[in-house]
Amino acid sequence: MEKTDKKVILSGIQPTGTFTLGNYIGAVKNWRQLQEDYNCIYMIANMHAITVRQEPAALRKNTMDAVALLLACGIDPDKSVLFVQSQNRCHAELNWVLSCSAQFGELSRMTQFKAKSEKHPDDINAGLFTYPVLMAGDILLYQSDLVPVGADQKQHLELTRDIAQRFNMKYGDTFKLPEPYIGEVGARIMSLQDPFSKMSKSDENVNATIFILEDKDTIIRKFKRAVTDSETCVRYAQGKDGINNLMTIYSCVTGKSYEDIEREFEGHGYGDFKLAVGEAVADHLQPVRDEFARISADKEYLKEVCRKGAELSERIARRTMSKVYRKVGFVEN
Ligand code: TRP
Repeated sequence: MEKTDKKVILSGIQPTGTFTLGNYIGAVKNWRQLQEDYNCIYMIANMHAITVRQEPAALRKNTMDAVALLLACGIDPDKSVLFVQSQNRCHAELNWVLSCSAQFGELSRMTQFKAKSEKHPDDINAGLFTYPVLMAGDILLYQSDLVPVGADQKQHLELTRDIAQRFNMKYGDTFKLPEPYIGEVGARIMSLQDPFSKMSKSDENVNATIFILEDKDTIIRKFKRAVTDSETCVRYAQGKDGINNLMTIYSCVTGKSYEDIEREFEGHGYGDFKLAVGEAVADHLQPVRDEFARISADKEYLKEVCRKGAELSERIARRTMSKVYRKVGFVEN
């Protein structure tokens, strides 16, 4: 990463299975564009992943697949810092210090904690509870200016600011306060089977979610089964949540506006439209699939990307970490 006056953007993604079309359109596709205008730091959040039970071999594979996928999606390790969280010790170190500036009460109020505890009542571990503190550390270590976050992570970013501010008050100016980065089209991709819930990796209905490495036939089949409404007219309107979601997806992969799309499908039924969306998505993702296959076959290259990313990210993070240890009064090594 060059030393310029460009702003620092940091984001993370958990390595739990391949990305969905929602992850791709809502996050990763934009990450590629941001590389031109910002100093970007992209992290595979494998330490976050173990807050819910993971099969170790699967976690290891998913982590390397996530690196390969980000490369396939156009993240360029010469332009951005791309790294695996556990390979940079600063994240664990800052987590402890910050946890002493986070309050039990505020962590208890995190809606994601409440939701996840309900989902896994037999494993409400302390990591699940302090997860937002780990995330705060991820962000604050790099003195990040901006964090692109979806709605589900907004509360965690606000908490990050509160923790940073509290630390700065106690110990003197240490952390930059990060701001949310709001992209142009805040595309939030919904389930193909229930347009009121977000497209999710863990949906039980296989037809609800498109995974970006799926083959063309599967993608088209899932779009053909997408839930719509009882009208027949392709238009973006209130109450047409299924069609609106398909129009958003089609617009994101083709660059066409909603008016363009309405014109294109005037006089056509939903069948034609769904097929067109499926084909456009599959074609759009084809280069990603090809690149992923090519890159993930080259294990040495992948390891080298991780090694370089770990080194570079640690060099940046270590500066903040040393400052933090000094401020809190830890004796020097
Ligand atoms: N918690 C985020 C998620 O589950 C992933 C993440 C970890 C993250 N650390 C981050 C996102 C720092 C933004 C910034 O999606």
